[in-house]
Amino acid sequence: MQSSSSKKILAISGSLRSGSSNHAILRFLGEMAPTSLEYIIYHGLAQLPHFDPDLDNDHPPATVSSLRKLLAEADGIIICTPEYAYGVPGSLKNALDWTVSSGSLNDKSLALVTASTGGQNAHAALLLILGALNANVLKEATLLIPFIRSKMDTKGDIIDTAAKSALIAAFDCLLKAI
Ligand SMILES: Cc1cc2nc3c(=O)[nH]c(=O)nc-3n(C[C@H](O)[C@H](O)[C@H](O)COP(=O)(O)O)c2cc1C
Repeated sequence: MQSSSSKKILAISGSLRSGSSNHAILRFLGEMAPTSLEYIIYHGLAQLPHFDPDLDNDHPPATVSSLRKLLAEADGIIICTPEYAYGVPGSLKNALDWTVSSGSLNDKSLALVTASTGGQNAHAALLLILGALNANVLKEATLLIPFIRSKMDTKGDIIDTAAKSALIAAFDCLLKAI
């Protein structure tokens, strides 16, 4: 895997579930990361308030400031998410809404993994949303993994070799971009 010195990646899962396959993917990628890289998994999604334009000012809620700081300090972002009801999970969309005015994703190199049962609707919607946020969504780091649960064992290890290789290739692309 490509080495990268003193760089930071912020990894965001769109699932709040304790046994989440998307969390498991982010943990797996963290294990793949070079030791010189700072790889941070964001755990604040559930603590963000519902997006409210009245609170979206120079002094937003502390959890929002903290998310924006983490995004500002990151050289690259990876979002890994399931699809719910043919859409983007509300908690993830909420977090993204808080980044519109701050421009936190502007030009930020970003890998997008949608790992779900199907996932194509959330994946397509996220590409639109991230385009609106002017993120640098890396084409080769954009991956849709359907039937994710059948590609993992009960411990959350990825047992599907094609999915594993595709994830490593997507992550490597992100590392090269930062
Ligand atoms: C309320 C709910 C709605 C769902 N809707 C969809 C859906 O529209 N499309 C899809 O691909 N999967 C759907 N799923 C299945 C999830 O993608 C699947 O449970 C996935 O493993 C969740 O990701 P996680 O393992 O990271 O928590 C839904 C699951 C739940 C709980």
